[in-house]
Amino acid sequence: MSAVAPRPSFHFTPPSGWMNDPNGLIVVDGTFHLFYQHNPTDVVWGNLHWGHATSVDLLTWEHQPVALRPDKNGEIFSGSVVCDEANTAGFGAGALVAVFTNDLLGKESQSLAHSLDGGQSWATYSGNPVITAPEQLADFRDPKVLRCIGEDGCHWTMLLAVGPEIWLYRSADLVTWSRSSVFVPERPYEGALFEVPDLVAVPIHNGSEKQWVLTYSVLSRTDPKRLPRTMCWQVVDFDGLHLSSDAPVVGGRLDHGFPFYAGMSWDSQDADSPVLIAWLDETQQLSGSGATWCGRLSIPRRLSLVAADSGLRLRQTPALKDDYLRPVEAASVALNSTKTVKLGCRAIVAQVDGPVLVGPQGQVAVSVQFDDGSLVAVELSGETAGFSQRPEQEPVVDCQVKRVAGSLSSMVLVIDAGSVEVFVDDGVIAWSVLTPSNAKPEALVVVNSSTHPVDTTVHRLVVDEGAVS
Ligand code: FRU
Repeated sequence: MSAVAPRPSFHFTPPSGWMNDPNGLIVVDGTFHLFYQHNPTDVVWGNLHWGHATSVDLLTWEHQPVALRPDKNGEIFSGSVVCDEANTAGFGAGALVAVFTNDLLGKESQSLAHSLDGGQSWATYSGNPVITAPEQLADFRDPKVLRCIGEDGCHWTMLLAVGPEIWLYRSADLVTWSRSSVFVPERPYEGALFEVPDLVAVPIHNGSEKQWVLTYSVLSRTDPKRLPRTMCWQVVDFDGLHLSSDAPVVGGRLDHGFPFYAGMSWDSQDADSPVLIAWLDETQQLSGSGATWCGRLSIPRRLSLVAADSGLRLRQTPALKDDYLRPVEAASVALNSTKTVKLGCRAIVAQVDGPVLVGPQGQVAVSVQFDDGSLVAVELSGETAGFSQRPEQEPVVDCQVKRVAGSLSSMVLVIDAGSVEVFVDDGVIAWSVLTPSNAKPEALVVVNSSTHPVDTTVHRLVVDEGAVS
């Protein structure tokens, strides 16, 4: 019988039971609140509640009491939380209001709950649901609510995933909603439906100028090859009621790994935000026998936009506090040489830098080797970044992504028990992968056949002064 998988050291997991999407991300007085899709009684999807946790550093989390429970309107699916400063809903000034989908045996509607004690306890609204699905619509879920200031004052806007469309609703009080518009984002493949839309103002080049970015997850229901789920981003204009976008569309896949799904962002409008976090879907791989929990989230990722020849590109950098990173080994890897750095613990952040990290003919290959013989590899040539995992996992995880011309220079690998997340070209390309849960990373191998030396720094991640093993 296989041993129970170790928990990741710095990726969020539920205390017990099942977890999928992050929900209701909000920052209150400097504290990050994370709600999530949660089955507290079993390690499989179903019986969905909202779990709750808080953090001040996005790496160490405190579990809080379960926030929302299924009731006569159904299970609690995904949604968002807003702070109703002006008491528009009448629950109290500064109330946190959760806007979520109730799913009653496949019939979906939107409902409210509020908290007057900073998210510790919640009361569901007696008039739920506040929006019901038009007849025949089965996929009608995942409300994301934003406060909008327009010419006629303030109102609330809701984005809702409705099959192959995103619908926008408007409300003055969070209770009465009317539909204002419909938007159809780019679809990476035909027959796809959308889930968990989010709209975030992302700084351009980390400056003061911001651009609206729609993020959304895409589920293929009809593809015979059962294309894995994926998450996308798209630059949009938003006037408070409608979304639009220029042609050609600027956007693409947010992460090229198949487990990365249903992400959403904390957007506190300060210089450090937004920060996105997603579910690393392990339904097909990791749920091991004997485990009392199932589900992990990605590393939180700070978002910004950078200019490239092809237009703006979304950049993601792991939100890791520098003072948690302890250098283990730094090495320069000369041309045509190989360097092996012993890892020996599960929580590692490795960085590989070069002037342009491969010239036109060169190649740099970086792999994480595990003690069970498996490996995760990244191969950079001048034009492409190739990602692969051996032995192959299902669905197939090998992929090749075109790099941005004149690319940036650094690669970061975030390694924890059960997952590796790779950020290439300063975070413009991201790839996440699940790794065999009992395997321990043994070595980082850098093979440099490029025209420049590359520098490798391996850090051990130390959270709360306790060394992470
Ligand atoms: C995405 C999703 C959402 C839904 C939730 C149910 O993973 O399917 O669309 O609200 O999960 O758990």
